[in-house]
Amino acid sequence: MTDTGSPSVSALRAWPVWDLEVRLFHWLNVFCVLGLTALGTAILWDKELGVSPDGKVLLKTVHVWFGYGLAANLAWRLVWAFIGTPFARWRAFLPRLQGLGPYVGGFLRGEAPRYLGHNPLGRLMVTALLLVLSAQAVTGLVLAGTDIYYPPLGSRIAAWVAAPGIDPATLVPGDQSQVDPAAWKAMRAFRSPVVETHEILFFVLLGLAALHVAGVIIAEVREGGSLVSAMFTGRKTLDRPPVDGPGAD
Ligand code: HEM
Repeated sequence: MTDTGSPSVSALRAWPVWDLEVRLFHWLNVFCVLGLTALGTAILWDKELGVSPDGKVLLKTVHVWFGYGLAANLAWRLVWAFIGTPFARWRAFLPRLQGLGPYVGGFLRGEAPRYLGHNPLGRLMVTALLLVLSAQAVTGLVLAGTDIYYPPLGSRIAAWVAAPGIDPATLVPGDQSQVDPAAWKAMRAFRSPVVETHEILFFVLLGLAALHVAGVIIAEVREGGSLVSAMFTGRKTLDRPPVDGPGAD
């Protein structure tokens, strides 16, 4: 029989890599980001979509609940990076220049070294994604206070802007009849760079997410490794031993 150059079935071996926590984090994060993106898009283009003022407050409220989900999931993931299984830890995904040149060179020649965890380009992408998600969570949590008086800062913001004699707890999002105009103006000035950052990072995140999906598909097609199914099963199937496999530094 002629050798086709493709790996024989016996050369393929499944290796455990992503633990249950990493997989749960990943898919919950996808769910939250999709929900936040859809709701954020509607908030951003509310006038074009004909959303009423009350409708906008509702959109923001649901967006914030999804945001709490994203922030809690992300916070748990950052803790898991200290205590999880080896491929869940910081040292498995923070960028490393070592290995980047050989990986890119090998990739371009069609003979990239196999990685069980993230390859060097994947490390850059995962770090960028976690940074942008963290910044979205922090700015979003501030906006939850300035826009709808929700935790963690909502009660302080309400106390800041309530007109004299008005109980801050009775302020209604979107209704400016019970706020002190000067305090309201100062609060809006405080909020302005935060909402701008949140908006810019939204577009950055969309770009990164598209690149991330494209990168996974390209790596899977060119190198195999069952990257997509590994995020469900926790196991990667490789045609040769990985350079970062058990026992490697
Ligand atoms: C993947 C994460 C997120 C994405 C993609 C996202 C996206 C967006 C977008 C596109 C907007 C509209 C911005 C504008 O009108 O200028 C927005 C607004 C908002 N987001 Fe997020 N967001 C995320 C996370 C969060 C989180 C974690 C929270 C809070 C827990 C949050 C709270 C808010 C609030 C309160 C607004 C209303 C601000 C406004 O008046 O425009 N977001 N978000």
